[in-house]
Amino acid sequence: MNTNNNQRILRGQTLAFVGNPFEVGADHAFDHCDDGAVLIEKGRVVAVGQAGEIIENNKTAPIVDYGDGLIMAGFVDAHTHFPQSDIIGSYNDGLLDWLTRHTFPAEMRFSDPQIGKRKAELFLDQCFLNGVTTAGVYCTVHAQSVDAFFQAASQKNVLMAAGKVCMDKNAPEALMDTAQSAYDDTKALIEKWHGAGRNRYIITPRFALTSSSQQLKALGVLWKEHPTTLMQTHLSETKDEIAEVLKLFPAHKSYYDVYESFGLTGEGAIFGHCIHLSDDERQMIATSGGAIAHCPTSNAFIGSGHFDLAETRRAAPEIKLSLGSDVGGGTSFSMFATMKGAYEAARANGSMLHPAEAFWLATIGGAKVLRLDDKIGNLAAGMDADLVVIDLKSTPLISARVKRAETLADVLFAQMIMADERAVKATYIAGELLYDRSTGL
Ligand code: GUN
Ligand code: ZN
Repeated sequence: MNTNNNQRILRGQTLAFVGNPFEVGADHAFDHCDDGAVLIEKGRVVAVGQAGEIIENNKTAPIVDYGDGLIMAGFVDAHTHFPQSDIIGSYNDGLLDWLTRHTFPAEMRFSDPQIGKRKAELFLDQCFLNGVTTAGVYCTVHAQSVDAFFQAASQKNVLMAAGKVCMDKNAPEALMDTAQSAYDDTKALIEKWHGAGRNRYIITPRFALTSSSQQLKALGVLWKEHPTTLMQTHLSETKDEIAEVLKLFPAHKSYYDVYESFGLTGEGAIFGHCIHLSDDERQMIATSGGAIAHCPTSNAFIGSGHFDLAETRRAAPEIKLSLGSDVGGGTSFSMFATMKGAYEAARANGSMLHPAEAFWLATIGGAKVLRLDDKIGNLAAGMDADLVVIDLKSTPLISARVKRAETLADVLFAQMIMADERAVKATYIAGELLYDRSTGL
């Protein structure tokens, strides 16, 4: 019997970050324990350390032994679209074609709250079986899609940041709001959901092509009125899109300048993609405190280009960076696939991405971008117990590869290149086991 009100010990290898690998160097970023343990109580991590010591000091706590499974903070997907879960892998000839042919028809169905409920549940299940414990999520233009999403998230007690997509032009009639209704509906949703339980609200103009100046302005005002919310949008994903934006907003110096002039930049702003930015734009994002969500599998699939992380950091070393699956432009919920995509994008640009950097981006990077790094993104006492346990030998081939690895970094590199959801042994949300691969729970 567990007498210690949901106290428990997870035993296995443990992995935490003690520094930002981009700053301290990849070799000094990790704290790894071969036989470690994590003490959880009331949804929080209370202690992380050597198994012997943690068990000795907490004799009545039940122990879940994961053997040589690796316990770490759950993955944070900083940019994804829950209503696009079932259009992953839709054949397309670039972003604007993909949006009109696949995305908008799929999103129209979310006027029905039952569809919203079913797809929110599908999305969350996919997150958990991929070890994703928090995401920055686009809903659809329908307020009921946001209600459906936060209701499902609340039931699981999972920390999700999400918002109603706003668009009042260049979209099918059934998917458009107005400047006023976008303001009113978003405001009502913020009041209902932001800070309710673990939920966070993100003000969400889809992108400059689908919002009028009036709408962008109204959302900028609304964000000022609710400064603890976040703001997410797409920026400089494809060259065709940029040309269209500059045609529609001829008075503006750049695509980024459109958002800046309407008060949609600064701390808490998350810009998806950012492939084709100038150095000036990169520096403006960095100095304003804004952030980039790099979405590599989407960029490769849609043919948008390869985000140059190294060049972005060279131009703006302080810029906040994270990784996004961008489902369903992206091809996988898995952050292993997303890290692999980021590595491949780096190689396409003639640079590299060390596994310490990739895992940091996929956890703490995302948490920082969502302004949640005091709660999630790392394995440490005081943090929420949103955890993933990784089977480092999830297939015969990975097992053979890992046997040859001489360093932890190489073991992690093998995971990010070869692993998929079969490597996720368990996912904990606020200390509760919400996914267990062995039982399919
Ligand atoms: N730009 C505007 N909307 C979208 C979207 O839904 N997905 C992607 N990848 N880019 C966008
Ligand atoms: Zn997107």
